Amino acid sequence: MRTFIHTTHPARVVLGSGTVSRLAGEVRRLGGGRVLLVTSGGPGTAAARGRVRDELGDLVGAEFGGAVAHTPVEVTEEALAVLRAADADCLVSVGGGSTTGLSKALALRTDLPQVIVPTTYAGSEATPVLGETRDGRKAVSSSPAVLPETVVYDVDLTLSLPLSLSVTSGLNAMAHAVEALYSADADPVTDRLALDAIGLVARALPRLAADPADREARTGLLRAAWLAGTCAATAGTGLHHRLCHVLGGLGLPHAQTHSVILPHVIACNAPSAPDVTRRIARALDVPDAASGLYDLVASLGGPTSLRALGLPESGLAGAAGLGVAAPYPNPGERTVEDVLHVLTDAWHGRRPHGPVTTEAVLARLTEQVVDSFAQSPDPRLRDLLTGLVRHLHAYVAELDVSQAEWSHAIGFLTETGQLSSPARQEFVLLSDVLGISSAVDVLTNSRTPDTTPSAVLGPFYVEGPPEAPHGSVISAGLPGTPLWVDVTVTDTAGEPLGDAVVDVWQADEDGFYDLQLPDLEEPVLRARLRTDSEGRVTFWSILPSHYPIPGDGPVGRMLTAADRHHYRAPHVHFMVSAPGHRRLITQLFVSDGAHLDSDTVFGVKDPLVVDFAPRTGATPDGRVVDGEWRLLNHTFRVAALAG
Ligand code: BEZ
Ligand code: FE
Repeated sequence: MRTFIHTTHPARVVLGSGTVSRLAGEVRRLGGGRVLLVTSGGPGTAAARGRVRDELGDLVGAEFGGAVAHTPVEVTEEALAVLRAADADCLVSVGGGSTTGLSKALALRTDLPQVIVPTTYAGSEATPVLGETRDGRKAVSSSPAVLPETVVYDVDLTLSLPLSLSVTSGLNAMAHAVEALYSADADPVTDRLALDAIGLVARALPRLAADPADREARTGLLRAAWLAGTCAATAGTGLHHRLCHVLGGLGLPHAQTHSVILPHVIACNAPSAPDVTRRIARALDVPDAASGLYDLVASLGGPTSLRALGLPESGLAGAAGLGVAAPYPNPGERTVEDVLHVLTDAWHGRRPHGPVTTEAVLARLTEQVVDSFAQSPDPRLRDLLTGLVRHLHAYVAELDVSQAEWSHAIGFLTETGQLSSPARQEFVLLSDVLGISSAVDVLTNSRTPDTTPSAVLGPFYVEGPPEAPHGSVISAGLPGTPLWVDVTVTDTAGEPLGDAVVDVWQADEDGFYDLQLPDLEEPVLRARLRTDSEGRVTFWSILPSHYPIPGDGPVGRMLTAADRHHYRAPHVHFMVSAPGHRRLITQLFVSDGAHLDSDTVFGVKDPLVVDFAPRTGATPDGRVVDGEWRLLNHTFRVAALAG
């Protein structure tokens, strides 16, 4: 049982396009009348700052434009002086982590309400965490007092954020989400938010790389920033953030450091948190979380090494020591050697290896096989083959298929193939009893309500059946209840279609097709007729019986082993080929027949269950019948060929 305590921090979030126009209203809602606007003065945020100033108008009491990374306390003191001089009663910050950090630091000292307008995806606006730098050391504290009252996310303000910054700050959000999953304080809500955030970032960044103005992708990133920050606010952070803060204190750029470190921390934590690692991989849609994330960052041109960020190799040991100097929440204890290993790999920019799990090996194998078809000149062939490979690999993996079971399956398929011939279609039978023929039939045919539904062909159709004139008897003297068949072929408007070829075939009253009766020398209970000008075909046959599909082969044995019955509901097959129209392959089922609800090949469809009406006395063509005969009257409606 999972027990948990979930705390929700109050927050008002306005997210969308053009939402900055609500800013003045949001400030007034908080009782603000003299705003201290916090900005970084950097050229990248000039346009956003301009928009915010315009929207706030007279509400701006003063602006402090000196926010810098890692929130040095000296800068906070300077801003505090400006704030006091202006007698500000509300904080509005616009920008990335630096402005948000400064706004939080000011709120901590003044308790003023804050409206934060983020222009990056780090998500710090949603957390009660504040990292401040004093004498080159970063100290992290957490207090609800630093949480902004309102966050206004406006995607329009992020459109010009360069791709490289978008990548690193998106990864920053991802880091919040990943650590929330590791946390001992995680709960079902934070888990859900975190996995959503990871998926959103993983999907959005490649889209952004293709089109940096992709609003949908950028909105996804803002949402991810908020979700990830929100779950980090509840679930807290661990080794990853500890290392990033340590490295930040050594002067490394915050967001870039996240991108480099995160894959290595995931690899390091994988043995202690295999389940979380798998869920991260699934959210990323990769076989292995650590290497998959590294590949994502690399493919986006993001930083992958601490060396490239300017850390001297000599700094690694000290950073590792600081990394474990104080306790921090993390799945599993990490020694200074573990942390040094993480930092060394990250410094070199090595691709982390996931643990050599069966899953990872299988995932790699599947990708190798799929890739082997990548050059297929026919794209449809490639999709069919790679889809088959993926599903079969997933099947053997999911069911943990043993060598003996697979050999048995191969033996079964071999026997099925060896038994197959034009007169014994064991493979067709296999497809039928597994419902695949019916599934393909559903996908291919029967799509319109005004045409007769199709049904499986089955293994007993023989090309070129004997031609039979109207009114002829196709049962060649076989015993059974006489059946007068009177069917009409029309188009979907009900107009009769003359000169349509109608092939019919069926079983006898014992449930056997002629192919199964070696004593018969000629085709029986199968014929080809042509519709007259009224679209009609008439003939005499006998009432078909339900029958077992051939049971003496591998398919029959499989059904027996699974305790499934072998019966088909009684039916007559029709294949209707009218000029200019789609060919219809179908069956009509005897409405008072057996097994209609459990047909062993799943071929019965309600509109195909029809009356084979019992009659006595005079017959339509004057034939004299002793006792009962049956009447099958039906209209087949076929669709015109497209174009
Ligand atoms: C048939 O109706 O002829 C049939 C269809 C599928 C499997 C076996 C028989
Ligand atoms: Fe049949």
